[in-house]
Amino acid sequence: MLQFDVVTIFPAMFDAVAEAGVIGRAREKGIYQLVAWNPRDFAQNAYRTVDDRPYGGGPGMVMMAEPVGRALAAARQRQKSAGVQKPRVVHLTPQGRLLNHQLVMELAGQQGLVLLAGRYEGVDERAIARGANGIDDEISIGDYVLSGGELAAMVLIDCIVRQLPGVLGDAESAHQDSFVNGLLDCPHYTRPEVCEGQKVPPVLLSGNHADISRWRLKQALGRTWQRRPDLLVKRVLSDDERSLLEEFKREMCTQELNGA
Ligand code: ADE
Repeated sequence: MLQFDVVTIFPAMFDAVAEAGVIGRAREKGIYQLVAWNPRDFAQNAYRTVDDRPYGGGPGMVMMAEPVGRALAAARQRQKSAGVQKPRVVHLTPQGRLLNHQLVMELAGQQGLVLLAGRYEGVDERAIARGANGIDDEISIGDYVLSGGELAAMVLIDCIVRQLPGVLGDAESAHQDSFVNGLLDCPHYTRPEVCEGQKVPPVLLSGNHADISRWRLKQALGRTWQRRPDLLVKRVLSDDERSLLEEFKREMCTQELNGA
């Protein structure tokens, strides 16, 4: 069972991810466990203060090192009691390295993860130092700033848990996701066959599985080329894939000439 411990001043936010959909069901099935730790419970004054003004001045508040550090220590201790020798400790921050599929798979292979979701302008640097009892990783979910690390932590939990064995009903569906093979996903269709005059591509109705796979790969290559050419720069295409992509481009030109 994958063990998550989250350090957050808004533990209730995590009910959203832990109770809904496939991720909620995975928790019920005992595929992972999630425990939240609130730095307020580790604050030392009667007001349960967890933030203070920044040294050196400037706007906003900073999360205090001590309550955060104590909450992290409690989270590590819980991981240990759950049998995790060395949990990976991750701070969610826009200053972190960008999350991608490869990193998700790496994290999905861990026994336990401690996620620190900061608020305010940031967390006192002394609570997020690297090293033996410090942070292992800083991760960002994109080049934009959220009001706190909670949503980023939930994104992380969601995309990790859906990779764990037994979570997705159809064993294939995580393998066929976008990014798994370095490409975007192909388009999908379901009934009816004609929707407001738009037809389902005939090959999908043909029952010919080889043709369907070929078409799907061609669409995946074409979409990636159109929408995320940066992904193709990183990926070496086989001769077959290269010719499928050329076919996609030719078909696109024909459609444009026909005014489609
Ligand atoms: N906290 C605030 N913004 C964030 C982001 N983009 N990624 C991760 N954590 C964050």
